Amino acid sequence: MSETLDDAATIARVAARLAAAERIAVITGAGISAESGLRTFRGATSAELPPDMQSLWKEFDPATLATPAAFARDPAMVSKWYDCRRLGCLAATPNPGHLALAALQRLMEAKGAGLTLLTQNVDRLHQRAGSRDVVELHGTIMDWRCTQTGQHLTPSDSAFEAYPPKSPFSTEGLLRPDVVWFGEMLPEAAVELAREAAASCDVFMSVGTSAVVYPAAGFLFEAKGNGAYTVEVNLEATPASTAVDASLRGSSSVLLPAILRAAFGEGALR
Ligand code: OAD
Repeated sequence: MSETLDDAATIARVAARLAAAERIAVITGAGISAESGLRTFRGATSAELPPDMQSLWKEFDPATLATPAAFARDPAMVSKWYDCRRLGCLAATPNPGHLALAALQRLMEAKGAGLTLLTQNVDRLHQRAGSRDVVELHGTIMDWRCTQTGQHLTPSDSAFEAYPPKSPFSTEGLLRPDVVWFGEMLPEAAVELAREAAASCDVFMSVGTSAVVYPAAGFLFEAKGNGAYTVEVNLEATPASTAVDASLRGSSSVLLPAILRAAFGEGALR
């Protein structure tokens, strides 16, 4: 991606804010993992993207797959779809966007400041990039839980032998992914941490999310209402674009490292 002069000026402004910040909050969405080969839900379908990065929702209707009712109706199909996605996440590796956020957290901590990373992603790529205390607003596909007892397990790196997988914790129970489905509540502790971060940060960044799914999309507006400097990094415009102080249009795997270098110097990513 080539940077325009406008981009360079905006990157410099954002970098100055980050360098001066005591508390940063970042929320990420599927877009940050797109360049790790994982498909987004409703993002860009640009011709430059290979087919496996095009919008998931074109092939799968979320109302059919990502709801408790869908699982009750067809647990075999829904659990198989999630297990395929789980294996895809395991096969993927973090990209420079994930690595830049992990580096930013380390840099903040080294100066006695802090960064809270909120994610809507279920893929665990932030943790594998080195980010700590990641707040998983929509759960994770890497853990599954018993429909009867709620007990969790982390499945092996291979596919389940049969669908739906039976729970080892109860005779009647099945295993379901530990993700938040449409119509379910977000984990209370995660929402609490997100609210705290939005209330206390100097800079709030929204990265690779279409900013349409609530309550996650609301945290940027809460932070703005509390006086934070707000930034969006996205390939395309979203409902947040006109609200933020700085909107950077482009790939997070290019822009996040560029912002870090501008804020903390060339060594920032080492
Ligand atoms: P979406 O698929 O809705 O949006 C992805 C966003 O990433 C779009 O705005 C794209 O423009 C942007 N994007 C794509 N590639 C990018 C790149 N390389 N760099 C920067 N931006 C890029 O995904 P989410 O916003 O994460 O919820 O979706 C939110 C929630 O909707 C998901 O967590 C999921 C879904 O329903 C649940 O399953 C509960």
